[in-house]
Amino acid sequence: MNRVYIKTYGCQMNERDSEAVAMKLRNRGYVMVDSESDADIILLNTCSVRDQAEQKAIGKAGHIASRMRKNPQFVLGIMGCMAQNRGQDLLDRLPDLDLIVGTQKFHLVPDHLDSIVTALKARGPKPSTVIDLESEAGSEDTIREHIPEKIKATAYVSIMQGCNMLCTYCIVPKTRGRERYRPMESIIQEIQSLAASGVKEITLLGQIVNNYGIGKIKSVNGKTPFVQLLEKINDVKGIERIRFTSPHPRGFRRDLIEAYRDLPKLCEMIHLPMQSGSDRILRAMKRPYTNASYRRLMDEVRNMVPGMYFSTDVIVGFSGETDEDFEATRKLFEDGQFDMGYIFKYSVRSTTFAAENMADDVPEEVKEERNQTLLKILGKSSLARNKSLIGSTQEVLVEAPARRGENQMMGRTRGHRKTIFPGKPDLIGKMARVTIEKATVSILTGTQAP
Ligand code: 5AD
Ligand code: SF4
Repeated sequence: MNRVYIKTYGCQMNERDSEAVAMKLRNRGYVMVDSESDADIILLNTCSVRDQAEQKAIGKAGHIASRMRKNPQFVLGIMGCMAQNRGQDLLDRLPDLDLIVGTQKFHLVPDHLDSIVTALKARGPKPSTVIDLESEAGSEDTIREHIPEKIKATAYVSIMQGCNMLCTYCIVPKTRGRERYRPMESIIQEIQSLAASGVKEITLLGQIVNNYGIGKIKSVNGKTPFVQLLEKINDVKGIERIRFTSPHPRGFRRDLIEAYRDLPKLCEMIHLPMQSGSDRILRAMKRPYTNASYRRLMDEVRNMVPGMYFSTDVIVGFSGETDEDFEATRKLFEDGQFDMGYIFKYSVRSTTFAAENMADDVPEEVKEERNQTLLKILGKSSLARNKSLIGSTQEVLVEAPARRGENQMMGRTRGHRKTIFPGKPDLIGKMARVTIEKATVSILTGTQAP
């Protein structure tokens, strides 16, 4: 009774949390399996950012629970954001749950499973559900482990937890708590050890990475703690590329812009959530910037790094969004010439400021129409950018065999454009120089330059 399957919903942070939990479980003697049907313990690591994500996980858990009734030795747990958000209430919908673990208690999953498994083995009455949702000082420094066989060219590294912003639509401050930063030395140690295992590219993760260390670590020569961290990572031997997600437009200061000029390993790609282009809606969202200041920031960055790639998040159909508001978003989205973008239809999250004080008054069809409008613009701008790369030679970090096509490898350019070219698996984890011959909205294809 020790085979565990973890299913992950949501963002990269959740992927990273699941990976660390998996490794902690392995170190405790559990066997991680890749398919649900091979497991006797299933853990769902959940997302609450939109209603759809929660409904998906609840549906899945309901399905698994019906299987459990036939096998009382089976264990089902829910961890992460939805566990934190709904807590005890989950038991009303899913009375068979064995475990509910919040976002500051991932590191205790092995302890909790040990106690559940011991009780089940004793074949006494079914143990009551373990619920662990407290906050815990220092928990931000517990997401550190990586699974050795899965260590390839690229790795995620969590640098902080939580969010202190008050965006009115967002559940994250409730599910992830206040901002807490890992010590810099601990992050660097993790990255050094990844580099020693062959990792070439690091993506730093946090809700607002550019807030890293604020109020805890002093600025030095005008450099914020986040930029100091980037400088230290830039010095780690073996690491060739640095990325991060997500920064907030508010704290994106001059020192960070200059880092793109000064740190050769920092890849010229920024995910810069915009959410809306209407000042009125930005105010209603409590996003502390304007259409003009967001544009100014993009311009400043592009002046420093002319070829910069941009990606963004937009919410359409937020409370009170008129045609005029959407037009401001549409225009900013078009003018921004984004290479990548994630567009979301506003989803009310109960207990948020917006849920309690503003109406969800944009009809679903209008949200969908606005979504489609932005997707079309994105398709055009990313295709134009990709086409402009035809004939150029790009540095590609090779990640894996391509999904389709024999002897085809897949990697990414510094701008994070997926690139496919003929090559052998011994290239995985190495840099290749690829001359681009064809481009679609999302894929570049080419051949290795001589
Ligand atoms: N509805 C729709 N999208 C949301 N996001 C966050 N909260 C909501 C919500 N209630 C989006 C934001 C954020 C991304 C991770 O999810 O765009 O940047
Ligand atoms: Fe949510 Fe805003 Fe924090 Fe991002 S910055 S996690 S959108 S509250």
